[in-house]
Amino acid sequence: MKIRNICCIGAGYVGGPTMAVIALKCPEINVKVVDVNEERIKAWNNKDLNQLPVYEPGLDSVIKEARGRNLFFSTDIDKAIIESEMIFIAVNTPTKTYGEGKGKAADLKFVELCARKIAQIAKNDKIVIEKSTLPVRTAEAVKTILEKTGNNVKFEVLSNPEFLAEGTAINDLFKSDRVLIGGDQTSSGKEAIEKLVEIYANWIPKEKIYITNVWSSELSKLVANAFLAQRISSINSISAICEETGADVQEVATAIGMDTRIGSKFLNASVGFGGSCFQKDILNLVYISETLGLNEVSEYWNQVVKINDYQKTRFAMKIIKSLFNTVAGKKITLLGWAFKKDTNDTRESAAIHIADYLIENGAEIHVYDPKVSNERMIADLEHLNTRSSSENRKNLFYHKSPYTACDQSHAVSIITEWNEFVDYDWPTIYRKMIKPAKIFDGRNILKVQKLVNIGFEVFSVGK
Ligand code: UDX
Ligand code: UDX
Repeated sequence: MKIRNICCIGAGYVGGPTMAVIALKCPEINVKVVDVNEERIKAWNNKDLNQLPVYEPGLDSVIKEARGRNLFFSTDIDKAIIESEMIFIAVNTPTKTYGEGKGKAADLKFVELCARKIAQIAKNDKIVIEKSTLPVRTAEAVKTILEKTGNNVKFEVLSNPEFLAEGTAINDLFKSDRVLIGGDQTSSGKEAIEKLVEIYANWIPKEKIYITNVWSSELSKLVANAFLAQRISSINSISAICEETGADVQEVATAIGMDTRIGSKFLNASVGFGGSCFQKDILNLVYISETLGLNEVSEYWNQVVKINDYQKTRFAMKIIKSLFNTVAGKKITLLGWAFKKDTNDTRESAAIHIADYLIENGAEIHVYDPKVSNERMIADLEHLNTRSSSENRKNLFYHKSPYTACDQSHAVSIITEWNEFVDYDWPTIYRKMIKPAKIFDGRNILKVQKLVNIGFEVFSVGK
């Protein structure tokens, strides 16, 4: 029997775009995306495609084509579970903020809630698919919950981690490097795998679909993110050496990247990586290693996160140092708040830590980001719990225009690599800034010589 109805619990950055693309590519399958958050579902159903809860280039046209045809967003989770033969779980799995594993382990309470809900509601056999990134052996736990509390319904649990990167999600989904599916090698397990392969085979070449056992699949997702983040921490650690010695980190990155064994991607030195996945997944790996008694392994990976924290602080300290060792009462501008360009996502963005650090040192922070709202910025700062809400609001100023954000500023810092920053009217910005006017390019995107000719003092990462 072919799959005709699927649903996804969790209409976030992963669930929303992934299901939209499945619906687009498989018009014969009904796809329901459900979520407990009414506001979010309302936004997914908004007629104005600029109001979708997730900003992703190309997402609007996918939604336009599929929504209402075979793609539906709803809060009726029970109905979606009953009607679907295949259920994806794409709820968030943040780092635990309490109890055993606090600060490291992934919090699986939402995944567990989903499993319990499915067990309680399902009346016929289902294939349950982990889309969320999960620690190794979670599928086993999900399976136990489903089997022990179910109504004699048969469940197959598959792991199918998502590798899309935000900002390029639609393209990544259209042309995935690989689709990874982990499942049991029993006959029912193989059948479930085959059904999921059939869905992806609508647009992904079969040789790119890789089948493994469940645990390899779960672990591979953590390891992929850990390796990517490790490259960034490695080049960022080298950027510190470059700044002390006169070597140029971009030249070093190009030189080593020309070696095909190393490769040129993911070697951009920066203010530090952000995003919902890298730090969380590495900490999760650290925790797993610790609980297995593999302390050297755990220390090894923890160092990737430590270097990232070091890079963020180092950047903020550089600003303070260059402003004659004090930013007290000074206006400092941050261009960009999102964790990377082409997304409105700010989770773990370096901007949050840099702003917090500078505010602690008495600075007034003025921010412009093309896609991030004022409330989001304040909420991000609040989350750190460094000071009261009113004090955060007194020290963080949101701007709708980059030009007002830079007016009377002592220093402008590029935090996110938004393309538009490169071609601003920099002579005008220069005229309105306090002199000496300084720019800290945390992404090495600006045309330095042009800025120097205008009169700016420019600081780049790793130069
Ligand atoms: C994803 C992945 O799924 C996660 O594994 C990864 O590590 C981080 O990225 P993401 O889509 O980015 O999560 O998370 P988010 O945008 O927070 O969306 C999760 C959604 O699940 C939210 O809209 C939330 O309301 C919903 N949810 C959460 C439920 O519907 N039910 C719950 O019980 C919990
Ligand atoms: C990442 C993985 O790439 C993706 O496969 C996985 O599914 C989820 O986690 P994402 O976090 O969305 O995706 O974006 P990514 O492009 O990986 O960037 C992560 C962070 O690293 C960003 O803050 C980015 O600016 C930074 N980065 C990236 C660098 O600082 N230098 C680089 O060379 C590349």
